[in-house]
Amino acid sequence: MIIEVANASHCVYARIICDTIAESAKQRGTGIAKRTPKYIISKMNKGDAVIALDGSNFVGFSYIESWSHQKFIANSGLIVHPNYRGKGIAKRIKRKIFEHSRAKYPKAKLFSITTGPAVMKMNTELGYLPVPFSELTTDQSFWKGCQSCKNYDVLNRTNQKMCLCTGLLFDPKCKKGFKSKRHWKLLAERLHLKTK
Ligand SMILES: CC(C)(COP(=O)(O)OP(=O)(O)OC[C@H]1O[C@@H](n2cnc3c(N)ncnc32)[C@H](O)[C@@H]1OP(=O)(O)O)[C@@H](O)C(=O)NCCC(=O)NCCS
Repeated sequence: MIIEVANASHCVYARIICDTIAESAKQRGTGIAKRTPKYIISKMNKGDAVIALDGSNFVGFSYIESWSHQKFIANSGLIVHPNYRGKGIAKRIKRKIFEHSRAKYPKAKLFSITTGPAVMKMNTELGYLPVPFSELTTDQSFWKGCQSCKNYDVLNRTNQKMCLCTGLLFDPKCKKGFKSKRHWKLLAERLHLKTK
């Protein structure tokens, strides 16, 4: 298994990446920002993505997006092919793209908004902390991406102050984070999540 920063040679995987993301969203019943192969290829060409391959088989992917003139970075579109789930691969992709983002954009704050327990767990282990939406980017091109989510009415109704997603932030200036299992457990209890 190879997990590496993607480049132009990986463009052949753009279609299967989009199809796997779309199929998983359909099964979870969640709305999701639409990704096209063209968009995925642009990320690969810029060195703003991580891909996992098993020989020539597609295994997993994630990419970097930036807002507010690169003050905020998000590691988006995390996907692991169904045949390879439950083996710790998402965790390895997350760590790789986190380290790559930190190296490439050292001053940026990293953030995510998610309802997914797995992502909450992985991000808090990397040092992200739960924050109100007011601490995240105000760049409207980010929030526009929420329009395709089925819960968008909630975000709209609260003037972007809150929604069903939890905001998570890694601030490079703040060294403390939810790095221990105990911290994750406390967060999970607060959010009424199942940890297994
Ligand atoms: C979510 C997804 C990326 C996880 O991939 P994976 O390779 O199976 O995940 P891993 O095996 O690396 O697990 C990572 C951690 O999350 C935990 N986890 C996974 N699913 C979980 C769940 N439903 N609830 C709580 N924790 C979960 C695992 O236990 C593991 O933590 P641990 O090592 O401390 O036990 C994969 O299921 C997927 O592609 N789903 C569809 C797309 C998606 O939901 N993407 C994320 C939102 S954009």
